[in-house]
Amino acid sequence: MPQLDSHSTSNVLIDLGARSYAIAIGTGLIGQAATYADLPRASQALIVTNTTVAPLYAEQVRAALGTHYPQVHILALPDGEAHKTWETLQLIFDALLTHGCDRKTVLFALGGGVVGDMTGFAAASFMRGVPFVQIPTTLLAQVDSSVGGKTGINHPLGKNMVGAFYQPHRVVCDLDTLQTLPPRELSAGLAEIIKYGPIADTVFLDWIEANLPDLLARAPQALVHAVRRSCEIKAWVVAQDEREAGLRAILNFGHTFGHAIEAGMGYGAWLHGEAVGCGMVMAARLSAALGMVDAAFAERLVLLVAAAGLPVKGPVLDPIDNAGRYLALMRLDKKAQAGAITFVLIDGPGRAVMREAPEALVRSVIDSCCAA
Ligand code: NAD
Ligand code: GLY
Repeated sequence: MPQLDSHSTSNVLIDLGARSYAIAIGTGLIGQAATYADLPRASQALIVTNTTVAPLYAEQVRAALGTHYPQVHILALPDGEAHKTWETLQLIFDALLTHGCDRKTVLFALGGGVVGDMTGFAAASFMRGVPFVQIPTTLLAQVDSSVGGKTGINHPLGKNMVGAFYQPHRVVCDLDTLQTLPPRELSAGLAEIIKYGPIADTVFLDWIEANLPDLLARAPQALVHAVRRSCEIKAWVVAQDEREAGLRAILNFGHTFGHAIEAGMGYGAWLHGEAVGCGMVMAARLSAALGMVDAAFAERLVLLVAAAGLPVKGPVLDPIDNAGRYLALMRLDKKAQAGAITFVLIDGPGRAVMREAPEALVRSVIDSCCAA
């Protein structure tokens, strides 16, 4: 497998008119001053990161930003999905106000999807909106959460229930940062990459199957293709439906079941990507049970999810009425309307649609997919 040229970068454009921005994908990016040229200027910048990522990357980013901003502060939040809360969000506002930051201050989200979603929400609301830049350091954040402007926090009763659509000025995906990612987090990112195949691109699905060993080995050429193709598909969807009036919901394939797993187990017990991987298994089997796609295609997806190191058996959330507990949690999903759950289902390979499903069928799929 050939190596990437050092410092080779490719860009994917998110086309949103005056709010368009580039996703830079490459290696050696985060520590270069040039990466941050032509961003909005201000007297201060705040790097929001967490206690795990800060010792790895925050000083390189600060040094590079120091070329452009007279004062660069670092805020390290507590790490983990369980901290994607109002209390942690408040720490960002505390830092901004303590440092005397103003309306021009630029926020830099350095970390995974948790840091990115919270920093984006803080940027959307601090002084009614300041610029921000995403520097995603997990595979999941590089292929999904840093792109497209969904920001927010969890509520104990539901995932990502409080938030805003707010686009970053740039996304910087430095593949070098993926080398320090724990294996379980790498697999979690693969779930969101796999997602793009069944909903939009069967050629990409074939490629993922063929190149999974290289992806698991973090081969740079495989990573760059996976990140770029994922971002291209997401950019195509977001450009057509930024605020999820319709099409964008396909990006939630596996998430209706997955969010129920995350909330039902307690945030952080299952990684978001793990819950999405298992949720895709359930959604694919529900699609097959509805006769929308061959059972063979659904089982092909199950094999790929398992090969990526992700769970394919759902957890038991309630020993008395497990399916009932899943259904109750899924009725809180943002796509549910008047208590009716809408699923993202596969309507033939490479095509996703939104549909309700008979409760008895959903119950039987949950029962057959959950660990005894
Ligand atoms: P995460 O942010 O919790 O990061 C995973 C773990 O990896 C954390 O412990 C983190 O500190 C650590 N980490 C990050 N970068 C590292 C590195 N380079 N080396 C070593 N460790 C590193 O989780 P995630 O999977 O990145 O993101 C999940 C979150 O993203 C969820 O809250 C989910 O709801 C959200 N999400 C949002 C969107 C969106 O469109 N906004 C899309 C998908 C997911
Ligand atoms: N991750 C789903 C979306 O961005 O819409």
